[in-house]
Amino acid sequence: MPDKFVTLTPELYEYLVEHGARQDDVLRRLADETEKLGDIAIMQIAPEQGAFMTLLVRAMGARRALELGTFTGYSAICIARGLGENGTLVTCDISGEWTEIARRYFGEAGVADRVDQRLGPALDTLRELPADEPFDFAFVDADKAEYPDYYEECLRLLRPGGLIMLDNVLRGGQVLEGDDDDARTLATREVNDRAIEDERVDVAMLGVADGITLALKR
Ligand code: DHB
Ligand code: MG
Repeated sequence: MPDKFVTLTPELYEYLVEHGARQDDVLRRLADETEKLGDIAIMQIAPEQGAFMTLLVRAMGARRALELGTFTGYSAICIARGLGENGTLVTCDISGEWTEIARRYFGEAGVADRVDQRLGPALDTLRELPADEPFDFAFVDADKAEYPDYYEECLRLLRPGGLIMLDNVLRGGQVLEGDDDDARTLATREVNDRAIEDERVDVAMLGVADGITLALKR
């Protein structure tokens, strides 16, 4: 099979971000502050992924969104902006420290009134949500070991035509040659194997950032 993808050099990636993502001052400052947290900053989404999320959520006309894994709030701001003023984003995380940073930036971004922050394991939050108020969009980015369960719960909570975006589906290549004892790698492989065979969804995996899968509920 001839290569149909371009390998991004750092310079080409910089070009892509400059031409593909309009990061405003709030997102830039949030990214800078997150960088100062150290290695953990790797969990923040890439700018071009954020631009894609805002555009996708807006193109869908989504009004209700779900996020598993708030971290410091970059992706939530991108989703909330796509939802517009009358939207609602329920976003969950287990870290009070990270989500306090997120809360501050939701205020700065002017989206605080449309973001409902829940502190606790995402599966607990999901299982408390009633199925009679369905969601249009779900971004899955929390504990990788729980991805198969997140996928099922999100499918339950989405309307037909609703979209799930799974983050980190390539796990930096570990889906191929990772540690077979790592529950996170095994769960990522499991959800990838399930989604591609799943008749309940239309599916597309994209090589954006660390790999994202889009699953559209039929
Ligand atoms: C990790 C988690 C993420 O959600 C991500 O986007 C990158 C890395 C991690 O746990 O290492
Ligand atoms: Mg991620």
